[in-house]
Amino acid sequence: MPSRFRQSRPHRIHRIAPASRAEENRSETSPMIPTEKLSAVREQFPVTRRQLYLDSAHQTPLAMSVRDALASFLTEGFETAGPKPVWLRRVEETRVSVARFFNAAPSEIAFTKNTSEGLNIAANAVPLEAGDNVVLIEGDHPNNAYAWLNLKRNGVEVRFAPLPDDEIATATTFEPYIDARTKVVSLSHVTFHAGQVHDLMGIGKLCKERGIYLVVDAMQSVGVIPLDVKALNISVLAAGTHKGLLVPQGLGVLYIADGLDELQPAYLAMSSMANPPADYVARPDDMAVRKDALRFEFGNVNLPDVHALSAAIDLIQSVGVAAIQKHVLALGDLLLEGLDALGVSVVGPRERGWRNHIYVLQLPVETWADYFARNDVRVSPERGGIRVSLAMFNTVDDIERLIGVIRAGLKTNAFAAIAHID
Ligand SMILES: Cc1ncc(COP(=O)(O)O)c(C=O)c1O
Repeated sequence: MPSRFRQSRPHRIHRIAPASRAEENRSETSPMIPTEKLSAVREQFPVTRRQLYLDSAHQTPLAMSVRDALASFLTEGFETAGPKPVWLRRVEETRVSVARFFNAAPSEIAFTKNTSEGLNIAANAVPLEAGDNVVLIEGDHPNNAYAWLNLKRNGVEVRFAPLPDDEIATATTFEPYIDARTKVVSLSHVTFHAGQVHDLMGIGKLCKERGIYLVVDAMQSVGVIPLDVKALNISVLAAGTHKGLLVPQGLGVLYIADGLDELQPAYLAMSSMANPPADYVARPDDMAVRKDALRFEFGNVNLPDVHALSAAIDLIQSVGVAAIQKHVLALGDLLLEGLDALGVSVVGPRERGWRNHIYVLQLPVETWADYFARNDVRVSPERGGIRVSLAMFNTVDDIERLIGVIRAGLKTNAFAAIAHID
């Protein structure tokens, strides 16, 4: 690959002149995952041998260890028709791992189906009266919006704070929309459509000061950004597990802060009850629900996925979420640098700290989505262009290959007018 970008290719990150904004944002203290470890990680993801996979924000490819966990679950099912006590014990072990992931207690974690279920559980658990309001970000993921918009039929007002795609939400974004009747602020940590990383620390502080519940959709950040629910003052966090948590669709995790006893479940099952009847006969005279987050866990959960999640968390922890974040940020620096050289812009913010692993390239979806597919590059069409999302198994070579594919695309007649090629 010719060009400035090729010449500047760092194995260790270094500066080239003239300094681009990406370089200004670059930190020498953000090394990538060391080569040997990265090779081992890459071995775990066979998809990396088949295509250029840059779509983890859509869904994770499966790792070998996750497949093995699913396979052993199936073997147990075949051979023993299910050692349920063993399976249930593993659920509790996985709950402990998930809790550790968020700096929460196991009693604060429930397993759900996905992010939407967690957000709907939150929306129906918070005590809200007609005239109360909830503040969201305009254009945030619809699964967050609909959970709250559904409360309009109870007279709850839903307010949307506007936000440009290249900025992040801070306390200041929400302040003008908050009043004495504001009970909830709910937002994605990382946005799927522009990759913004919102300032949860500042927003959490504001919510604490004003006595507002902070509900966070962590679908796009979990596993890729360290999350400390206590430090961030999060009341409820909901996430699915099929992106940064590396397992197939159908399992979600829900954090409900201890002590929020006024949050009550809209559904009940035996598993939610403080005194589940040993004889399996429901007791209308004892409707006390559990005090922990399990009051929001209804019946059997997705056992194969829970087992897979345990293996996935082990894999993630073998690298460390902080190291994964540094890795994807360093690759993001390179990506921005390569895009700058080609004259291709991104939709979202460029500042480090405001972005992480999601970069939406301003390339028209109609032509470029097919072009990338034809070149074995897996990316997603998005509102503002083509979404590239990075994961722990991506490498400098992946970024170079992507830049090379874009460069070649820009040189063809069909795309020549879209961006300037130097
Ligand atoms: C921010 C965000 N929230 C939620 C979801 C998905 O919701 P669910 O887990 O309910 O399918 C996605 C994408 O899949 C997302 O990007």
